[in-house]
Amino acid sequence: MSNISWHLPPSVQPHASWVVDDLPWDELEPARIASDETMFFLLASASFVEITTDLYTQNLVEHYAGDSEVVNWLSDHWQPEELQHGVALKRYVQKVWPDFDWDRAYQGFFAEYAKLCNAEQLEVTRTQEMVARCMVETGTSSYYTMLRDFCTEPLLKRIAHYIRNDEIGHYKYFYRYFRQYAEREHVSRWAILQALWTRIREIDTEDGLIAYKHAFQVRHPDLPFDPGRYEQFRRTLNSITRAYFPFALAARMTLKPLNLPTSVERWSIPLVVSGARYFLKQ
Ligand SMILES: [Fe+2]
Ligand SMILES: [Fe+2]
Repeated sequence: MSNISWHLPPSVQPHASWVVDDLPWDELEPARIASDETMFFLLASASFVEITTDLYTQNLVEHYAGDSEVVNWLSDHWQPEELQHGVALKRYVQKVWPDFDWDRAYQGFFAEYAKLCNAEQLEVTRTQEMVARCMVETGTSSYYTMLRDFCTEPLLKRIAHYIRNDEIGHYKYFYRYFRQYAEREHVSRWAILQALWTRIREIDTEDGLIAYKHAFQVRHPDLPFDPGRYEQFRRTLNSITRAYFPFALAARMTLKPLNLPTSVERWSIPLVVSGARYFLKQ
């Protein structure tokens, strides 16, 4: 089910396990992917969101003011890594689809997306916000695992693998900090479940639509954009997700902060997986 170990990182350690400039860009095989519209929108959207990390890092840093370990890790490790994901994906998109004006599409995306990012989106307690962060990293690590396993272009496979490993590393740090805060703040399991549920409900929010719309308008300036196109994209993505998403691992990561008894966790995981699969059929 899972090939990741759950041991916690001992402390914050500098690590740049890969850098964008050192990727083997000459091994890129554009012919394997350039005609795939779904992949174009998937990668362009991911690059927009990743590269915008600094927009909400500041909110997060302020939420943990006074906790220098968390603040330093967010500023010195987490944010640069998320930005690097965006930079790598941006360069990949520009190399495979050189006619696409990435900067112009991103400008449109940023203007609309920035209005949605504010401190009010953070959870009330620090413990709950750590739970929300674990949930986000569960989503991103699963997403890049799926991308790695689904794509056939070798360089993208490698990039997706590197990013996926980073996202799992982020999960481990957020989980470690969650445990520390949960001990201090005595937040109930019910409150943790609420934070998880809030994030799960937000999975289908408008971020994806905004990213898709601005990528579409620049890629197809002669075509009118209508939400039906996005729906079609989502349906295609859902069918890839049904086949390649690491459901069991994602369910395990989602439930972990609840610290359920082993027997309860054992029957909860298939239940969560069935729920996610049902959701994708809608
Ligand atoms: Fe990322
Ligand atoms: Fe991450």
